[in-house]
Amino acid sequence: MKINVSQGEIQAHEADTLIVNLFDDVTTPSGATGAVDKALDGAISELIASGDLTGKVGEVGVVYPRGAVPATRVLVVGLGKRDLFDLEGVRQAAANSIKQAHQLKAKNVATIVHGAGVGGLDVQTAAQATIEGSLLTLYRFAATKKESEPPHEIESLTVVEFDGSKLAAIEAGGQQAQAIAAGVAVARDLVNMPPNVATPTKMAETAESIAKEHNLKITIGDRAWAAEHNMGGFLAVAKGAGEPPKFIVLEHNADREDLDTIVLVGKGITFDTGGISIKPSAKMEAMKSDMGGAAAVLGAMKVVGAMDLPLRVIGITPCTENMPDANAYRPADVITISNNTTVEIISTDAEGRMVLADGLVYATRYNPKAVIDLATLTGACVVALGSNMAAGLFSTEDSLRDKLVAAGTAVHERVWPLPLWDDYKEAIKSDVADIKNSGGRFGGVSTSAMFLKQFIDYPWVHLDIAGMALSETENGYTPRGGTGYGVRLLVEFLRNWA
Ligand code: BES
Ligand code: MN
Ligand code: ZN
Repeated sequence: MKINVSQGEIQAHEADTLIVNLFDDVTTPSGATGAVDKALDGAISELIASGDLTGKVGEVGVVYPRGAVPATRVLVVGLGKRDLFDLEGVRQAAANSIKQAHQLKAKNVATIVHGAGVGGLDVQTAAQATIEGSLLTLYRFAATKKESEPPHEIESLTVVEFDGSKLAAIEAGGQQAQAIAAGVAVARDLVNMPPNVATPTKMAETAESIAKEHNLKITIGDRAWAAEHNMGGFLAVAKGAGEPPKFIVLEHNADREDLDTIVLVGKGITFDTGGISIKPSAKMEAMKSDMGGAAAVLGAMKVVGAMDLPLRVIGITPCTENMPDANAYRPADVITISNNTTVEIISTDAEGRMVLADGLVYATRYNPKAVIDLATLTGACVVALGSNMAAGLFSTEDSLRDKLVAAGTAVHERVWPLPLWDDYKEAIKSDVADIKNSGGRFGGVSTSAMFLKQFIDYPWVHLDIAGMALSETENGYTPRGGTGYGVRLLVEFLRNWA
């Protein structure tokens, strides 16, 4: 879908479908909705008066101008209560209206920026949210199956603004939105792909193409490379894998050591069977999303490159399958991580922390101002917070925690702080090694974070995204399947850094 920005009156616009909006307290629309209402000889006011249009959230009224304006239909999307309205309301309004337009097989759609007029939001961020909401909603994974007819595609979305002085801001917001939506699509695609396609090799190829497109430095470490780096945790998990493991490092502004360095680390288990500590077969297919952290990091690196952010940003994604195999690592094995910490394996299903341990140690070499890891790490996190509610957040610094909470709220990719008290260390004490890789069922989300904490020596945030990477239900602008969770959060955090 082509995105355009155009100055003019929306009622005069040559599109088949116009999108305007309505707060729930309006009786006589003003602004762009008012202008359309006038051109339609009061049709919208009439529908409000009759109670057919209420402006509540989720409502999309369809009005047929029948020649009164060039468009064949006008969609009036509800914005709900004025004092509850925010950027998420903009994205939801965009989602609801573009879904309706798509269903009605619209080809060329014109919309106003939701929230920029009467909503009182900053024009650029409102424009970004309007376009981002639309693009994220229309995302579809190209499934490998026969379709009876090709899926309908909207050809263009034009943002129409009457006030010429706002055009540059809308253009800028539109560019950001397109960069972000493209990054989210990469992450969603990787999660949606079947695990025989989204292999570590595919992750590496995706990283390669991002590196090429945005001029990032790339390193792809294979088994031998990982062995040279003494990455015992990563290699232990990869031992049973048929697919070759890949330890991927992307670097934006690689040689700019004068810039603040932020490292992003993503768990990249392309399929988690549990290994020898094998998982039950029910719902095991969901474990294709166990590379959701890595997918988010790759998607974020694409956006970082596209926006050319004035930071040195490093993306590290240790990618491997976790399989049961004659060569697989076993419970009772003792493994040495690249910082010489020894780990007693209790469960081979606690594999994420094993590959992250080497990822976190590797991050040290960049002398980072902050390291953020994202991992579909524990079922316990989903039990605590629920599916698609929030990522569990653990941090060594309150200021970092606050920045992530703020970023999460702004983009509606929520994070919620959970405790990392020293007492959790007790649960991962081992008789035979420095620590063990499972602290048992109770407090499993915090003991996993405590495990990771043994490998950091910089300001750090761990995000347990176990409930976030995959969704069984469609939710606003997030279709069923891979959510791309984390991309927008990371980009928002990085854009606001300093
Ligand atoms: N990938 C899983 C965690 C997970 C569960 C992600 C549900 C998404 C949805 C992880 O590798 C795992 O198996 N964790 C174990 C840890 C335990 C063995 C200490 C768990 O949560 O049971
Ligand atoms: Mn596991
Ligand atoms: Zn896992």
